Amino acid sequence: MSLDFKDYIASVPDFPEPGVIFRDISPLMADGKAYAAATDAIVQYAQDKGVEMIAGPEARGFIVGCPVAYKLGVGFAPARKKGKLPRETVSASYGLEYGESTLYLHKDAIKPGQRVLVCDDLLATGGTIAATIELVERLGGIVVGTAFIVELTDLHGRDKIKGYDILALTEYAGA
Ligand code: PRP
Ligand code: MG
Repeated sequence: MSLDFKDYIASVPDFPEPGVIFRDISPLMADGKAYAAATDAIVQYAQDKGVEMIAGPEARGFIVGCPVAYKLGVGFAPARKKGKLPRETVSASYGLEYGESTLYLHKDAIKPGQRVLVCDDLLATGGTIAATIELVERLGGIVVGTAFIVELTDLHGRDKIKGYDILALTEYAGA
């Protein structure tokens, strides 16, 4: 019997601010079987798409993407926040509720023509994933899919990445 990923996602009301329900994947990560099952589901998706490289944004994108890369035997490109990458980078900015943030990739993180899967824990407004996709494409990568543990459907993140295939292991409506 396959396991229900929602049983391993904690819903925390009023975090980080009143009215918001935080969908916390840490119980899933804490359970070896559930973490492996989530990883395996993304690995299967990646294999079907002929993925050659995984990319993911700091920090929780690493938790999701790295085990997938390991299992596939492909590399992982970390998209990082300001001031973390020591060599030449490309950057992309995205909007937050207040202000904006920027993600960076080393210029040699992706080879032109590589088939890339972009992974993160959560799709909310879509700003983070759109910026990560932009970085991969600026380096000549081909984004063949995106994968998430959680999609918050009410925030319409998928509208920001129209045309890209999306795997979401769970979906939540409401704050
Ligand atoms: C969270 C989450 C996603 C992003 C989703 O990351 O891990 O990366 O927000 O939101 P969006 O679709 O509206 O862009 P956060 O920026 O909190 O940082 P972290 O992963 O380092 O915790
Ligand atoms: Mg994140």
